[in-house]
Amino acid sequence: MRVTMFGTGYVGLVTGACLAEIGHEVICVDVDSNRIERLQAGEIPLYEPGLAPLVRGNAAAGRLHFTVDPVRALEGAEIVSIAVGTPPNGEGGADLSQVLAVAETIGTHLSAAAIVVNKSTVPVGTAQRVHDTINAVLARRDVQLDVDVASNPEFLKEGAAVKDCMHPDRIVLGASRRTTFDRLRKLYAPFVRNHDRFVEMDVRSAELTKYAANALLATKISFMNEMARIAEHVGADIEQVRLGIGPDPRIGWHFIYAGAGYGGACFPKDVLALAHAARDAGVPAPLLDAVHAVNDRQKRHLYTLIQRHYGGPPAGRTFALWGAAFKPNTDDVRGAPSLTLLQQLWDAGATVRVYDPKALDELRRTLGDREDLALCDSPAAALDGCDALVVVTEWREFRSPDLELMRERIGDRVVFDGRNIYDPVELEEHGIAYYGIGRGRSLSF
Ligand code: UDX
Repeated sequence: MRVTMFGTGYVGLVTGACLAEIGHEVICVDVDSNRIERLQAGEIPLYEPGLAPLVRGNAAAGRLHFTVDPVRALEGAEIVSIAVGTPPNGEGGADLSQVLAVAETIGTHLSAAAIVVNKSTVPVGTAQRVHDTINAVLARRDVQLDVDVASNPEFLKEGAAVKDCMHPDRIVLGASRRTTFDRLRKLYAPFVRNHDRFVEMDVRSAELTKYAANALLATKISFMNEMARIAEHVGADIEQVRLGIGPDPRIGWHFIYAGAGYGGACFPKDVLALAHAARDAGVPAPLLDAVHAVNDRQKRHLYTLIQRHYGGPPAGRTFALWGAAFKPNTDDVRGAPSLTLLQQLWDAGATVRVYDPKALDELRRTLGDREDLALCDSPAAALDGCDALVVVTEWREFRSPDLELMRERIGDRVVFDGRNIYDPVELEEHGIAYYGIGRGRSLSF
């Protein structure tokens, strides 16, 4: 099928490349000409495992194209996907200007009937607004075309996005016409060849499904972070508690890790946007507000532990930070707990030496060059001349550290483990003081 993809961010680029991989002809369009030029040259603007070969291979095979020209992009389009950003609008809601601008563009240049599929995370009712916008522009052009607007939220995880797209656990389709469901089933069928993983529903329910999924996952995390806080104060270890609750299939093993708080481009903004939409609809959403507030506090918790250890602000000290990305296997630092911690350490007058396997360029782009920030090219280099180590992201390469080297290089012999990846007893046996999240081990019973 001929697919047009508006937006070459995580969702657009990954989905576009995966659709090309299963044999569709895909043209990705973006208003960012620099990004499109880089993609045309085979350069991938974001780090995502498996994405580079997929993009380059399908571009070389002539199934995946990149353009800034919406006229060319919409020529012969059967499916037109919208995968552009919906950032916070400053009032807690979602900024739909990019989505609605794409709808204008579609209305302006579309020349034949098509199905418009919204993949961006949007408040309930947005498909209707997209539909109305396209039809208003078509009416101005005095053109009559049959355009159906469907909702097809994505559930891709950064760092595993290609795998999630090629092997989805479900494909949620929100539409009102049987013919639209059938076309979209055909589009995605090769991803789910051996299982029927399609979930069909009305458009508004599909829009809400995306928020409900992210909000529930965020709730699990904030719940565990709250338990961790309790554990810390009553002398229990949240890691033991996690092992004790995970085997219950009603709870499950996923998203029950206490840590430095959730970040990324989705959870923080989606929880807020859903709470905002609820309020707009006259429905209070105290649980969502609490999930957000707990996370906000959690992102500042590592610093609280640091202050507690030093008995005040750590002015003049040097901290090694292992990890800057909001989670492993990505170079994304949007909403990352590392940014909150860096700011707190700088406000206190500390200096920071950061190592991250992938995210240093993004960190520099976000924060600029500064004297109190050193970007280091290895975990050991980050430890050079530091007083304390803080682990913020649980990259695999941090999991088996050389404890002797740690003891030698970390001036104050203290580790703040924001992801609970170390064994407190082992570190303490090596003469290193250990602080984790929710690890208030009672030494008696
Ligand atoms: C999320 C959703 O998982 C995905 O379905 C949606 O499409 C986009 O948003 P993503 O933002 O890539 O994906 O990251 P995810 O793996 O869900 O992690 C989000 C954050 O939660 C990270 O900061 C992670 O460190 C944190 N987290 C996750 C925890 O603190 N504890 C956990 O147990 C799990």
